[in-house]
Amino acid sequence: MNNCSAEIFYDNAVRYFGYYPQHDYHYLDSAATTHKPDTVIDAISLGYRQFSAPVHRASYPASERASMEYERCREKVAEFICANSESIVFTKSTTESINMVAQGWLANQLINQEQASAQHTKGQCIWVSCMEHNANYLPWLRICEQHALTLKVIPMDIQGNLLWESPEIWQSNTVLIALSHCSNVFGGENPIAKVCAKAKALGIATLIDAAQSASHIGLNVNDIGCDFLVFSAHKMYGPEGIGALYINKLRSVQMQPLLMGGGIVSCVVNHEVSLVPAPQCFEAGSPNLSGALGFAAAVQLLNHLGVNNIRQYIAWLSRQFIEQLTQIEGVKLLPRAGGLSHSSVISFIVEGVHPHDVAHICGQHAVAIRAGHHCAHLALQQLEQTAVNRISLGVYNSTNDIAPLVAAICEAKEIFSK
Ligand SMILES: Cc1ncc(COP(=O)(O)O)c(C=O)c1O
Repeated sequence: MNNCSAEIFYDNAVRYFGYYPQHDYHYLDSAATTHKPDTVIDAISLGYRQFSAPVHRASYPASERASMEYERCREKVAEFICANSESIVFTKSTTESINMVAQGWLANQLINQEQASAQHTKGQCIWVSCMEHNANYLPWLRICEQHALTLKVIPMDIQGNLLWESPEIWQSNTVLIALSHCSNVFGGENPIAKVCAKAKALGIATLIDAAQSASHIGLNVNDIGCDFLVFSAHKMYGPEGIGALYINKLRSVQMQPLLMGGGIVSCVVNHEVSLVPAPQCFEAGSPNLSGALGFAAAVQLLNHLGVNNIRQYIAWLSRQFIEQLTQIEGVKLLPRAGGLSHSSVISFIVEGVHPHDVAHICGQHAVAIRAGHHCAHLALQQLEQTAVNRISLGVYNSTNDIAPLVAAICEAKEIFSK
């Protein structure tokens, strides 16, 4: 993307965020949560006005309309990742989706194995990468503790390349690889399709955490070849409180609901429970229709702007940020996953200044950046740091955000590094 097409893209995209103050606020924390376009806010509000009725519960027309809308939203989200709608479960978030797989699929598999062979599952391994958010680390750690499995960590080299080809990973005792597409600390992109292809050939299950990629990288579950893929609406311009879990056919039949309750049974007789088919059997409780409407509206905007255009714009913009940041003496950028020269996430440290002090001074200048461990303790351990600064970009960011950030970092250096 060149400067001229970047400007055209930005002018078009930012129009959808009518309330966003473009000139006196610099929100650089979209990896945590994105702003919501007017179309998403309107879809949620319209949903409450037009479709307030229970989903999948009643046969009166308003309830049937609400159910149809909910399923239409599921189709939109499924299409977005080139999946069938039966393979998409609406959850609360990426975190809930991963816990659902850990407890509903893996724990269930392990219990079946233990019962069938009357022996322990000891010796089996789960692999996560050193870049994982705690959401894709702690649920697996718990499973390992509960079932005497070993949790192992795939390291990366100093350029940010994941060392995924290490023979130790590809042993018959590996049951699952859980990997983020884009790290929330290092940004960049991991080679998920290659990892999944190798895993599939060896019968190893794969879960891909797409929380940080769904907003700007096209996802096609057929090309990726994973068993599970998870993401959250609120990191892709949609509302909080709703996420998606993709489960392929093979794993869907092996999975048990994490939550039991209303809406998932076809009948219960003498404590014998028959479940309705997937995906509904994984969605106990009253469905989140307003969330689904907001999620579908977010997906519609991403499609409208073009995910590939978004990707190119974010890559172009991140190069502009990196160019300026690297000119500040004492600013050290962390590597990007895949060794990329661009990324929606850029993390750094300022020599001699604590990351919290940098973020505080930025905040005083209406520049919203983050400091801390970013819920990625494995990554911070690998870096031998306790905190780093992070900026992350959305479609409403532009080169207007660079100078205030640079000025604030320079001021922080001046105040704190004396
Ligand atoms: C890579 C990654 N995975 C998972 C999560 C958890 O997402 P949520 O809080 O929406 O469940 C985050 C949140 O920052 C993330 O960055």
